[in-house]
Amino acid sequence: MPNQNTKMMQRDLEVIWHPCTQMKDHETLPLIPVKSGKGVYLYDFDGNSYIDAVSSWWVNLFGHANEIINAKIKAQLETLEHVLLAGFTHEPAIELAHKLVEITPSELVKVFYVDNGSSAVEAALKMSYHYHLNQGKCKPIFLSLTNSYHGETIGALSVGDVKLYKETYEPLLIANMQVPVPKDQSIEAAQTAARALTLQYDVHLIADEIMTGFGRTGKMFACEYAGISPDFMTLSKGITGGYLPLSVVMTTLEVYNAFYCDYNEYKAFLHSHSYTGNPLACAAALATLEIFENNDVLGENAKKSHYIKAKLSPFSALPNVKEIRQQGMVAAVELQGYETSERIGLKVYEYALSQGVLLRPLGAVIYFMPPYIITYEEIDKMIEVAYAGIKSVSKPY
Ligand SMILES: Cc1ncc(COP(=O)(O)O)c(C=O)c1O
Repeated sequence: MPNQNTKMMQRDLEVIWHPCTQMKDHETLPLIPVKSGKGVYLYDFDGNSYIDAVSSWWVNLFGHANEIINAKIKAQLETLEHVLLAGFTHEPAIELAHKLVEITPSELVKVFYVDNGSSAVEAALKMSYHYHLNQGKCKPIFLSLTNSYHGETIGALSVGDVKLYKETYEPLLIANMQVPVPKDQSIEAAQTAARALTLQYDVHLIADEIMTGFGRTGKMFACEYAGISPDFMTLSKGITGGYLPLSVVMTTLEVYNAFYCDYNEYKAFLHSHSYTGNPLACAAALATLEIFENNDVLGENAKKSHYIKAKLSPFSALPNVKEIRQQGMVAAVELQGYETSERIGLKVYEYALSQGVLLRPLGAVIYFMPPYIITYEEIDKMIEVAYAGIKSVSKPY
């Protein structure tokens, strides 16, 4: 008699093609059907629990089934679930846009709603290109950092630099060049240099804060390290506390004004998505910002990130650990000594799952990006399981 998890998995595999997955892996690797979530925990159909150490792909800030966010979405559901945002508007979109303008760098005063991270990156690329065109200039090449990731749609993939995702689609991509991540510079110095160079060469600076935004790196937005104000900022993921798809492109009055004129079909930004600025998603985002307003989230995160740092230091004594990196509530342990074909991350993933922790390594990088509400005891468990998992795959030297 199959258990509930197995039954759900079989039913799933009959019809669902999962993201970022070689589906054949599931012939041997169980899929975890999640029945419910509460706080940092996910629960499967057989009653097992898992600490969501990756915030369900970096989106969940304040835990699953958060009471404040739940209540705001329920209230919004009774009023308006969705309306198109062209020619119409609604209160949650208006209020959220005002709040975002208040909390982001000073020059960002216009909010263009989109509905997921990659689409926000696409919209920012198009807007930047189109801005220059409206000024009579053609600037069709983008520059981004080595190893960067900006999403999976064609434009977003083009400006990223992860070979695994990008190489196959090379003939379809738009023009892009990469510059190395400045290794011997502080974040502040690197950001200051990038802003100065973009101004000097009359190109835009697009700050993709889809992952870093909303406190993840220790400041509300990573741009705050150097106090720079970019020409565009893309936000998504944590914006709704991990509840619903929503993203924005924020930009300057100068960019906005370059599109503002008597109707001319070539000058307006005629880009849209059906679910742009969905009211339920905007309500979730307003609730998320309310939690930031009413609590010292960044202060508490600073204490937790120090604690995580101390807990990770013994990892450096393991022979298969190459490097430990951390910035705020993101920490990563890079492993060494493995061929890609060994899929070492997958082995650590499987071990951690068996111990009730959801880690989802990126290649040989085991990372932690937990919801901010994680307790110190839960941090202990998350890190102890990762340590044991990494130790269990170390080879005798
Ligand atoms: C920095 C960054 N940009 C863009 C994206 C793409 O967002 P989405 O997965 O919502 O398309 C991601 C997703 O991981 C990201 O981390």
